[in-house]
Amino acid sequence: MDLGINGRVAVVTGGARGIGAETARVLAAEGAKLVVSDIDLAAAEAVAREIQGLGGHAIAVRCDVANEAEVGQMAAAGIEAFGAIDILINNAGFNRDRYLTKMAETEWDAVMDVVLKGAFHCSRAVLPGMMERKWGRIVNIASRSVFGNPGQTNYSAAKMGLIGFTRALSLEQAKYGITVNAVAPGFVETDAMRALPTYPKLRELALAKNPVGFLGAPDDLASAITFMASERARYITGVTLYVTGGRFSS
Ligand code: NAI
Repeated sequence: MDLGINGRVAVVTGGARGIGAETARVLAAEGAKLVVSDIDLAAAEAVAREIQGLGGHAIAVRCDVANEAEVGQMAAAGIEAFGAIDILINNAGFNRDRYLTKMAETEWDAVMDVVLKGAFHCSRAVLPGMMERKWGRIVNIASRSVFGNPGQTNYSAAKMGLIGFTRALSLEQAKYGITVNAVAPGFVETDAMRALPTYPKLRELALAKNPVGFLGAPDDLASAITFMASERARYITGVTLYVTGGRFSS
């Protein structure tokens, strides 16, 4: 199936590793030109070089999505390199887990800033051009944790907020040929996950609770995200696609 995104320009935030890096690779394999954006420039450059090595087009840009000025510079760099931005994957995110009674305000704010304010800044930076060209795709990376995970009040609230953001923005943009959707991963085995001290226990629990009997890999998400970002998904907007192996609640 031709996804119809050959030559489209895609920004992936948090594109240096994990789900974001794999999404950048899959979008590039479909012919998209990539802006691999991350706070870790060296790692983003490695992904961009990998794409270039396979004959694709990619640049790496350092950008903290919580910083409006840096987001503006990142979008400008993408437009300068490739002429436009057609696809935005709001993927940058992290968790700062702690029970609410022990959570510091800085831990609350950090997660809100990267997940919610990041999507706010990045979407605002790319939307004017998409509206002008009457085509655009925004895919927001939410999480199964919207159903509630103990220790994740900040993260669950931010990701649920991102789903509300997705629904409202999809209605604002539908008439411009721009779709706005969310993809909510379940447990995905990334290097960041493997580095957690609690990883063996987390993995065992997640596996025991997973209806399909295995845990997702970054590629499982990248495929779903790329489809939602494609021409083929033009009649899908405002939805949240759960890529969780059938697991919903805690
Ligand atoms: P990861 O930690 O492997 O990669 C995230 C990337 O985001 C890193 O390269 C990091 O440098 C970058 N980043 C962090 N803060 C940033 C900022 N302020 N501005 C720009 N870039 C920033 O994470 P992973 O696992 O690939 O997760 C990607 C997304 O998927 C996140 O939004 C995460 O919340 C979500 N997710 C992941 C799940 C999993 O099991 N791995 C489950 C559910 C959701």
